[in-house]
Formats: sequence, structure tokens, C-alpha cells
Amino acid sequence: MDLGLKNIHVLVTGASGGIGLETVKLYLSLGANVTAHYNSNSKPIQDLQVNFPALQCAQADLSSESAVKSMFDTLTGSPFGPVAVIVVNHAIWTAEDVPIIDMTIEQWDHTLSANLTSSFLVCREFLRHLRIATEGVKDKASIVLIGSTSGKYGDKDHADYAVSKSAMMYGLTTTLKSEIVKIAPRGRVNCIAPGWVLTPMTQEALNDPAISGPLLAATPLKKLGTPLDVANQIVIVSSSVVSGHVTGQVIFVEGGCVGDILCCE
Ligand SMILES: NC(=O)c1ccc[n+]([C@@H]2O[C@H](COP(=O)([O-])OP(=O)(O)OC[C@H]3O[C@@H](n4cnc5c(N)ncnc54)[C@H](OP(=O)(O)O)[C@@H]3O)[C@@H](O)[C@H]2O)c1
Repeated sequence: MDLGLKNIHVLVTGASGGIGLETVKLYLSLGANVTAHYNSNSKPIQDLQVNFPALQCAQADLSSESAVKSMFDTLTGSPFGPVAVIVVNHAIWTAEDVPIIDMTIEQWDHTLSANLTSSFLVCREFLRHLRIATEGVKDKASIVLIGSTSGKYGDKDHADYAVSKSAMMYGLTTTLKSEIVKIAPRGRVNCIAPGWVLTPMTQEALNDPAISGPLLAATPLKKLGTPLDVANQIVIVSSSVVSGHVTGQVIFVEGGCVGDILCCE
């Protein structure tokens, strides 16, 4: 099936990480022109560039308003032209357990800034560039935010992360879906919310049987998610061909995991 993504300019943020890199590879295999964003680690993307001329990379600390603006200005002037699809995938999660009672304001602010404020900045700048883009780009416009089961069930000892994801899933996605159509009448906004996926972000935690044991017990499919499980859903929901009437949705990719069992232990 043709997903209509050939030659479409797709931006994936946090593309040097587990889910982001897999998503970049999938878009490339479908003929998209891909900008892979990174913050501090360009190596995995540069390795991929050797084989894919339709891949360019962009560096930015997305917590910085000026860096986000400058990244979009550069991308619009690049050979790929204005971005039509964004996958807002970057985020941080602190492996150390810190209950709210012990959480510093610095940790709280840092996570909210890295995950949520940065996502607002990326979406806002995307919309500003979309407003002046061609009708062809507007017709394909799609925002895919990456949430988490933590945003639905909470995340014991990681409230900063859980709150940042809830806000993306239930405040940002639902609001943006009503605003993007004022600029691009067929524009869509959805959120993919993974459960635990084995990536650099979670490797340390998932090596602990005290975490992985109850997690698998609460997952009907009895397996951890893979980056490809998540990437497949991202790509499908971003396609205006197969998902053209799907917007404002939060789609869980968690093997049926009843997440609150873990969160309450
Ligand atoms: N893995 C899971 O189990 C899981 C579960 C649910 C949801 N998720 C969500 O899925 C997404 C991808 O997760 P992942 O596991 O693939 O993570 P990952 O491997 O740790 O990659 C995250 C990426 O985010 C980038 N990043 C972090 N802060 C940034 C900032 N301020 N500015 C720009 N880039 C920044 C990092 O870039 P650099 O390395 O270049 O600095 C990194 O490549 C995240 O939104 C995460 O919350 C993951």
C-alpha cells in the first residue's frame, strides 16, 4: 500500500535515540525526505547518512526558543523545503527514583522544559512555517506527538515525566487538532503513547527484574515493545492517505499492559 509519504519532508526530533532512529529508517524506506534532529549525539544519524541521500540532520537544544526558531528557518530553506510532517519524539526520563516529596524544583522545571515546553516550541514554529507554506504541503500536514503510558497511569517516583506526558497527550494534542485546521484545513494532530520499550532511555531500568517481571506479568502480549512497534504506528498515523480522517487521538502501543499495576506497587 502506498502511504503517500514519497518526497514528503518529515522532521523527527530526538532521532539519535531508540524510537527516533527506527522511525527515521522507516520513513526513509517509504521514500520520505527526512530531517533527523539530534541534540548532543549525531553519530547514529551520520552513520545512516552514508546510505541515504534523502536524509539530513539538524542540531538543536529544543528547550531553547531561539534554537527551535533557527532550526525551522534553516529547514525551510533547505533542499527538502518546508516541513510537512513532524514527529515530536525527543524527551528525557531520569532513571533515578525520586518521589514528589523529595523532588527539587530544579528537577521538576528541567523535565517540564525538556519535554513539554520544547514540544510547544516545536509545534508552534511548525505552525508558523506551515501558515506560509504551499497548499500541497498543507494538505499533508501532520503532527505526531510521542506520549507515554505514564501520562495515563502516572509513574511512581517520576511525576515530572508523567505530568509532561499527560499534558502532551490530553492538553496539547486535543488543542492543536482544533487549531491546525485554521491554517491547514486537512492538517491532523495525533499522539502515540508507548508502554515500556527497550531503548537507551530505559535500558538500565529494564535490566532490573523487579521492574521487568511485574511489567511482563501485566502485559497480555507478554513482550516488551520494540522501537519498530512504535515507529510503525507513528508512520501510519502521519499518512494522510490511510489516516486522513484520524485526528486528536491518543493511540497506545503497550501490548495491552495494565499500567496502573506497576505504578501502584
Ligand atoms: N523507551 C520507552 O520505554 C518509552 C516509553 C514511553 C514513551 N517513550 C517516549 O518515546 C520517545 C523516545 O524515547 P526513546 O526511548 O527512544 O529515548 P532516547 O533513546 O533516550 O532518545 C531520546 C532523544 O531525545 C533527545 N533529547 C532529549 N532532550 C532534548 C532536548 N532538550 N533537545 C533536543 N533533544 C533532546 C536526545 O537527543 P541527544 O541524544 O542527541 O542528546 C535523545 O536522542 C520519548 O518521547 C519518550 O518519552 C519511551
